[in-house]
Amino acid sequence: MKIIAIANQKGGVGKTTTSVNLSACLAERGVKVAILDLDPQANSTSALGFTPGEHPSIYQHLIGGGDLSELVLPTKYANLFLIPCDMDLAGCEIEMAREDDHLVRLRNLLAPFKAASPVEYLLIDCPPSLGVLMTSALAAADELIVPLQCEYFGLEGLSKIVGVHQQIRESGANAEVVLEGIVMTMADSRTNLSTMVINDVREYFPEVTYETIIPRNIRLGEAPSYGQTIIDYAPTCSGAAAYRALADEFLRRHA
Ligand SMILES: Nc1ncnc2c1ncn2[C@@H]1O[C@H](COP(=O)(O)OP(=O)(O)OP(=O)(O)O)[C@@H](O)[C@H]1O
Ligand SMILES: [Mg+2]
Repeated sequence: MKIIAIANQKGGVGKTTTSVNLSACLAERGVKVAILDLDPQANSTSALGFTPGEHPSIYQHLIGGGDLSELVLPTKYANLFLIPCDMDLAGCEIEMAREDDHLVRLRNLLAPFKAASPVEYLLIDCPPSLGVLMTSALAAADELIVPLQCEYFGLEGLSKIVGVHQQIRESGANAEVVLEGIVMTMADSRTNLSTMVINDVREYFPEVTYETIIPRNIRLGEAPSYGQTIIDYAPTCSGAAAYRALADEFLRRHA
């Protein structure tokens, strides 16, 4: 199993949309994928049609330990699994911060699951902050994928997350985690700004930046309110095509 943190401390850049729809498209290709919803907003839990709080979240396990495989739920999609979240996870952030080992708790919790589960990729949908939950996701991950909104302030946020990634590597918490990808989201082909931002990111991170660009597409915004992924809600829209292309590119890069 490869553990992939989908992270950016900036809010509303497409972390959840990418976690859910990249996973759904990988699952559609026959790859076993799970999403770990690590954001107390529980957006990916709801986006997959679950009610936050209805099932146990990772909270108790982060505080008291336990077997993560107990928490894994099948979804209505073949090959796609969820470790759900509820609002309690917000309290977890505070409780965990008191513990000396907070940075590696998630990593330790995931280790037996990683070794035993048939899931090939675990995508962690991270909260929009540089707090304990997000940094512990980086400490637990093999790879980091950063969704980046195609706008000027997106670039400023990028240098920050790249810096945090570097710190996690250097701190010894996780020397192995690689910046696997930057995914440009909410691109508007009619604006020069989107094009400029994409070109800038590609210039600084030529290898890392995904070729696939996720366009701004209203259907991507609507799908979660129906508890559906894009390939269920609007399988022929540009958003579905983009996430399918992203999944294919992801699989090529991981071949
Ligand atoms: N490509 C897109 N086109 C149109 N709307 C989008 C697109 N991607 C995401 N959205 C919408 O933009 C909003 C923010 O997206 P999303 O929730 O995925 O971001 P996030 O980074 O997970 O946010 P947060 O930081 O709050 O967790 C949501 O309402 C989502 O439906
Ligand atoms: Mg989110």
